[in-house]
Amino acid sequence: MGELHSDAREFDGFARRGYEEVFNRAFPFAYAEFLDVLETTLLQYGAPLKVIDIGCGDDWTASQIAERHHGHYLGIDPSVDAISNLEEKLQSQPSLNVAGIAGSAEVLENEDFERISGTLLLGKPNLFICNAAVHQIKKSWDQIPTMVRRAFEMLSDGGKLILGDYFYDQKLTSAEVEITRNWIKAEYGQTPTPREGFVDPETMRSYLEEAGFKVEVFGKTQAREGLTIEYYVFVASKPQA
Ligand SMILES: C[S@@+](CC[C@H](N)C(=O)[O-])C[C@H]1O[C@@H](n2cnc3c(N)ncnc32)[C@H](O)[C@@H]1O
Repeated sequence: MGELHSDAREFDGFARRGYEEVFNRAFPFAYAEFLDVLETTLLQYGAPLKVIDIGCGDDWTASQIAERHHGHYLGIDPSVDAISNLEEKLQSQPSLNVAGIAGSAEVLENEDFERISGTLLLGKPNLFICNAAVHQIKKSWDQIPTMVRRAFEMLSDGGKLILGDYFYDQKLTSAEVEITRNWIKAEYGQTPTPREGFVDPETMRSYLEEAGFKVEVFGKTQAREGLTIEYYVFVASKPQA
């Protein structure tokens, strides 16, 4: 596993405060969009879920899933505190069997990962999630096309990937981007990712299609009223063989 970027350590602090408190409050429109897409997607699943959530953060996403469906969930995130929260808060929760791996998305390239995840999920994943994490993952592992391709290869036929992240529109001036970056720093104490650290939606769409995915849903919103940063989310499926 490569060296984690120093920004990744900030997430242990955010995990102690709770991601809902930090990220949902900071970017409410983005999280409302994600939740809407997650909810609609879960309605399409009859069988038990087998979810791999890359850059999962703490228990927030798993709790949302557990309220709506049942099955198995494996979260991967380098923040040890976030993974502890995930496992502790969901351990007595009956609908979703939850496991966490404290590590980088890079684990997808590890030969043993498919076997380990298969044991934990009792089979191949039928849903991958990667929300609000691509810009963080890129800091230590700049191989997002590989991440997308591995998700495609690992998914069962008909399985889906929900992938959302932030971006700055190309038309914004640097000054307009800086206003938002300064707000993030002042309000949340987070090291704001530079504009070029994000993957824009057009590029992400090309990664998805090159991997073999069929894009089913594309949503986009301002992340928060008054901020220039935006959020997009794709639901992409692996066609039946
Ligand atoms: C903004 S949070 C999003 C968390 C969660 N997915 C959500 O929707 O609330 C970004 C997450 O990316 C994680 N992260 C940073 N570097 C990573 C890497 N190399 N691999 C996987 N996750 C990483 C951070 O620890 C953090 O939990």
